[in-house]
Amino acid sequence: MIHLHITSWVLVLLLFVVALMAGNAKTKKIAHMTARMLYFVVIASGIWTLTSLAKVSGEYFGKAILGIVVIAGIEMVLVRTQKGRPTGMAWAVFIVSLVLTIALGLRLPLGMNFF
Ligand code: HEM
Repeated sequence: MIHLHITSWVLVLLLFVVALMAGNAKTKKIAHMTARMLYFVVIASGIWTLTSLAKVSGEYFGKAILGIVVIAGIEMVLVRTQKGRPTGMAWAVFIVSLVLTIALGLRLPLGMNFF
């Protein structure tokens, strides 16, 4: 499940970039809709990984909540950009939560272990 988790959040990040950078409005829309479907895969594979653990520590709950905040950050950036509203706060939420989520994910024992 951890591989599905990693694959799905990497795809979400790529689609986020496409939804922001694509010149064509239709491409942007399709990228955004596909990203929204993949949020479910990210969350489901994350929860699945959680339920496969013998012991869930506070760090795991922190990781799960941060992961959901990353998804909220992505939605805030995309929707605010689309509506022409200020995006500074949305970018801050996205970047801070993404860095913390990846750092904590890599610190926790499954998959790759860097810290
Ligand atoms: C876009 C959002 C997310 C990102 C960028 C992300 C990123 C990561 C990363 C980098 C890892 C470590 C993989 C490795 O060690 O090779 C990981 C593991 C994990 N993630 Fe996520 N994640 C996200 C969302 C979520 C959500 C929503 C949940 C739970 C509902 C979740 C639960 C987990 C769990 C339980 C692990 C295993 C931790 C371990 O022991 O290594 N993640 N995630």
